[in-house]
Amino acid sequence: MKTGALRRADAYAVPSAAAATPPEEIRHTLKGHSGASVVLHTTASHSYVRKTAGDMASNDRLLAQAAKQRDLGRNGIPFPRIFVSGLSETGHAFFDMAYIPGRTVADAVANAASFDVHAILSSVEKMLWLFRSCRGEAIPCEQFRLKIEAIERAAYESSGPDPALSDAILECSARLYGLEWDGIPESPAHGDLTLENIMVAADRRTVFIDCDQPWISSYWLDLGKLFQDCYGHWFLRSLYRSADTTVQLPNAIEKLEKLTTEFRALAEDDEPRISERLPQLAALNLFRALPYTDEPQTASFICERIRRVLDI
Ligand SMILES: Nc1ncnc2c1ncn2[C@@H]1O[C@H](COP(=O)(O)OP(=O)(O)OP(=O)(O)O)[C@@H](O)[C@H]1O
Ligand SMILES: [Mg+2]
Repeated sequence: MKTGALRRADAYAVPSAAAATPPEEIRHTLKGHSGASVVLHTTASHSYVRKTAGDMASNDRLLAQAAKQRDLGRNGIPFPRIFVSGLSETGHAFFDMAYIPGRTVADAVANAASFDVHAILSSVEKMLWLFRSCRGEAIPCEQFRLKIEAIERAAYESSGPDPALSDAILECSARLYGLEWDGIPESPAHGDLTLENIMVAADRRTVFIDCDQPWISSYWLDLGKLFQDCYGHWFLRSLYRSADTTVQLPNAIEKLEKLTTEFRALAEDDEPRISERLPQLAALNLFRALPYTDEPQTASFICERIRRVLDI
């Protein structure tokens, strides 16, 4: 893929990266967890969201994300349309996409807002079954075990002086390592199918955002990401930390249960082996987050959730 040149959609004119910002443009930073910046640009005539790599080392990844988003959009999967992508004047990769007024599913669940579970389910089903139709061979179990060992090393090193936390990391790692990792098919995948990356648009459409190039590509791992939230409550981590968990957290968990039941039925529809593996796929995704957290409190939360999920 050419990264140096701007790519432009035929019928849409947005200011190029080099053009001066029109004085009337309003910019609003949207929330995100990664180093990428996600900014809503609004002018009198149009709005668009620009996602820009946090550093140049992330350029290829961001442009690969744009390419996948375009590709999936062309295959009928609802993603925001991309207008333009390329390198900014500072050499950072970016892409501009349609703004989707609405909220993420994570936000709707956390705030006990109403949404159409079946609309979400049918979009997820359509996307995952497209991936399933392109599945290939099983991924060698060794790849999972090597990954678990690598995460254990990185997480152990960054866990700090708390022996209880270090023990918890080793315990989670040993439990994960000992599970069956055979028969997981390689296939195209969204790559980061969390509830934070599924939007419920104001017009009630479901729209996916923030796809990624995963370490291993499989729609089973996409289901694992969904269950990292459904079983692992990863997207609710700040509510668990909040001093007042008396109302919002139980409400969110109750709201989540309906979604969880429906997603599990969807996985079972494919083959029972997936639903049996959902806890371990969810736990593996939780475990993968460990080396990226520099807060012992979050690391303990992850270990605690892994234990609970593997006990399901
Ligand atoms: N096209 C869009 N329309 C409306 N809101 C959007 C759009 N794209 C992103 N957002 C909002 O911005 C937030 C962050 O975007 P995104 O998920 O792409 O970034 P991120 O999670 O920080 O990045 P990454 O996972 O690539 O490191 C989303 O959760 C969503 O609320
Ligand atoms: Mg995201």
